[in-house]
Amino acid sequence: MNKTFFIETYGCQMNFSDSEIVHSVLISAGYTPIEHYKEADIILMNTCSIRDHAEQRVLNRLQEFSFLKKKKPHLKIGILGCMAERLKEELMQLQQSVDLVVGPDAYRDLPNLLNTVETGEKAVNVLLSEEETYAEIEPVRVGDNQVSAFIAIMRGCENFCAYCVVPYTRGKERSRDFETIVNEAQKLFEQGYREITLLGQNVNSYRYNEVNFAQLLARVAQVNPLLRIRFATSHPKDLSDELLQTMSQYPNICKAIHLPIQSGSDAVLKKMKRKYDTAWYLDRISAIRRYLPDCSISTDLIAGFCGETEDDHQNTLNIMETVRFSSAFMFKYSERPNTFAAKNYLDDVPEDVKSRRLTEIINKQQELSLKSNQADVGQTFEVLVEGVSKKSDRRYFGRNSQNKVVVFTRTNEKIGDYVHVKITDCSAITLKGEVV
Ligand code: SAH
Ligand code: SF4
Ligand code: F3S
Repeated sequence: MNKTFFIETYGCQMNFSDSEIVHSVLISAGYTPIEHYKEADIILMNTCSIRDHAEQRVLNRLQEFSFLKKKKPHLKIGILGCMAERLKEELMQLQQSVDLVVGPDAYRDLPNLLNTVETGEKAVNVLLSEEETYAEIEPVRVGDNQVSAFIAIMRGCENFCAYCVVPYTRGKERSRDFETIVNEAQKLFEQGYREITLLGQNVNSYRYNEVNFAQLLARVAQVNPLLRIRFATSHPKDLSDELLQTMSQYPNICKAIHLPIQSGSDAVLKKMKRKYDTAWYLDRISAIRRYLPDCSISTDLIAGFCGETEDDHQNTLNIMETVRFSSAFMFKYSERPNTFAAKNYLDDVPEDVKSRRLTEIINKQQELSLKSNQADVGQTFEVLVEGVSKKSDRRYFGRNSQNKVVVFTRTNEKIGDYVHVKITDCSAITLKGEVV
């Protein structure tokens, strides 16, 4: 047999982590990964549905692959991930070139499904599971990062924020066996990795038997003091003092929290069904500052959600200023079919108003990011060396504990080493400095 496959991944870190599982499943079944899609027998797209734009990107790229298939009829094309789950069989009806549709909980079935596809039939498995965590499957690390790796610790989401498609595409929330997570971290450290990121849609609600997220974090931090631990994403409703305390006890748990606020208006947060208000969010920010004075806080923001007024929008700009986020992912609201918002609210903020509000949010964040970086000039940080700077091979880049990118002139350190860098200059995106 010895067929080759190529996977292209879209969307969040969870999807990138899933693609590593898919690699593992396919390699075990005798398939060979290949670097260039034009040479592959099977092209798989691991897709994202979070916003309409994300789906359009996938569909555009699919056109390219379909074109290739016309010249190369034995080529098989598969859609995996969130779009597969959202659109199911419909995908194959809409897109003639698609042979295979597989949802995020069905990757163990891939070799089977591919056998069907080889006979010339189409194959679909979009069953969601209440148990699947791929716990014992050892992911095959793809890409050239030898320093930093992801470990998925849970799957799914049951928060049902009104705007969000994830609970529909990823199913019930479930936590992965505690021991398998610690073992994977141990193994990665032994292979030379120096940083792991624990992944889930809402990691703070991790619970496996008696182990909660703070306890898991402590156990993973004990693997080795030279192994840095990061995690994402945290939900404001579940960010506990116990977690902050644990973070303060271990220097190798990075001092960076990604805490999506979405909006600074209580009326909007309520409509979004986020389960907290601004007072609660600000209380959690004070707690972070109290336990972890040097912790960076980043966020996600949505501009132009249903019914958002100018006052609501102003409140978002104001709270950004109050919290002083070090960075943010910022989006225009995009209505997703079948979500609570799509069924119950009007997507009534005009496109040009959404765009203007998003621009104002981005400009505000630009200001805040620059201020946050300027405050670091003159300070010295421990930086994990991750690679050679794209702009000059005389420079390395890495990140400090706060997750800020630091670029510095190379001395005699290697990738994977820790160095101390004194910051001498900055932009809104990076810190620049020299090894001390
Ligand atoms: N589980 C994470 C977020 C996952 S999605 C959390 O709850 O924080 C990443 C981000 O995409 C969200 O935080 C939100 O800001 C944005 N997002 C999700 N659905 C969206 C939609 N329909 N339109 C625009 N942005 C959206
Ligand atoms: Fe979506 Fe809300 Fe779940 Fe995040 S917590 S994935 S925004 S439903
Ligand atoms: Fe996208 Fe699915 Fe992640 S919708 S953001 S790939 S969970």
